[in-house]
Amino acid sequence: MTTNPRPNVVAISPLQIDADLIGTAARALRDGQLVAFPTETVYGLGCNALDEAAIAKVFAAKGRPSSDPLIVHVDGLEMAESVIEGPLPPAAKALADAFWPGPLTMILRRGEAVPLAVTSGLDSVAVRCPSHPVAAALIHGAGIPITAPSANRFNHISPTSAQHVIADLGHVCDIIIDSGRTDHGLESTVVTLDGADVTVLRHGAITVEQLASVEGIRIADDGTSVDSPASPGHEKRHYSPRTPTVAVRGNSIDFASTPGLELGAATSVIYAGYSDREPELPSAWRFESLGSLASVEAVGHDLYFELRRIDALAATAIVVELTGTPGLGRAIDDRLTRAAGSTIASTSAELAKVIAEATATHD
Ligand code: TXA
Ligand code: MG
Repeated sequence: MTTNPRPNVVAISPLQIDADLIGTAARALRDGQLVAFPTETVYGLGCNALDEAAIAKVFAAKGRPSSDPLIVHVDGLEMAESVIEGPLPPAAKALADAFWPGPLTMILRRGEAVPLAVTSGLDSVAVRCPSHPVAAALIHGAGIPITAPSANRFNHISPTSAQHVIADLGHVCDIIIDSGRTDHGLESTVVTLDGADVTVLRHGAITVEQLASVEGIRIADDGTSVDSPASPGHEKRHYSPRTPTVAVRGNSIDFASTPGLELGAATSVIYAGYSDREPELPSAWRFESLGSLASVEAVGHDLYFELRRIDALAATAIVVELTGTPGLGRAIDDRLTRAAGSTIASTSAELAKVIAEATATHD
């Protein structure tokens, strides 16, 4: 793979789309190059979904296993139908009418035009029509479906700004479009359909409650019983900081009167919680806010940004607090749980053990 010593960053305002710059990026995509671009959820690492050589470059750039399928991004219903088998089924049409363009990804039957490399050999394909004006203009300009996984190294925290993309993949993108921070800050919701029955494979920017409100749709599984096999690549450890991370439920641990949580001088623990319910922490711990639960949307918008910031503080361990709230809180809690490698400490003894292990491996 070619690498660029200096990232080629192009600024495009979502409020004033520069047609020439979009044209250049669209041509690069048609030529099989890698273009990182903003969507309303997170930044994506885009390439021509019909070009196997370009797809191979995306997997290599991310360090992503080929068993983890990619999402195909389209500019509307017509392009969506060009990548699936037959027309959109009625339930998918109802969801598209309700949420497209927007942060909903639907798993549909793969059309022959889509290489198996995109879908990791599956007969299904993930399809999404983003609403971000820059993404929409880019896909429309290219005139071809665009695969775009989140533009981060595999298993790292998804990028919500061009700076994040540069930090993870700056040297392997042919072009990085910088349009500022993304709107939702959390990935799209991924659903699969069986007739009118919807199963949530990944919680995201569209809530289960929003999905359930669509006429002609039944929530067969709200994600409670879904685990990695149904959504390949949706692993227990994902969206991860480099600092050892453990999750706790709010108010589940009495920090003030817990022995074993006090730290030696060489150790530092950051507790990432919410400004409106800051717990009393052991003296050497430091509180960092993920925002206020008064606006769960704001917490979602800032979550990856804050996790990257907190990770850069290079503490011995990070303790993240789950929101415990429905709606968007489920997507946030899903990401926090995966950031913690699915380790949720429910007693102070468990927490002390995880922190002791992190301290032992700290260099
Ligand atoms: O918001 C988003 O969806 C972002 C932006 C860039 O659009 N993209 C994104 O892509 O999050 P990625 O590759 O990081 O996540 C794609 C998810 C993975 O969990 C993958 O397993 C699932 O979609 N997926 C893709 N194709 C699938 C399929 N055919 N069946 C089941 N799950 C699939
Ligand atoms: Mg991802």
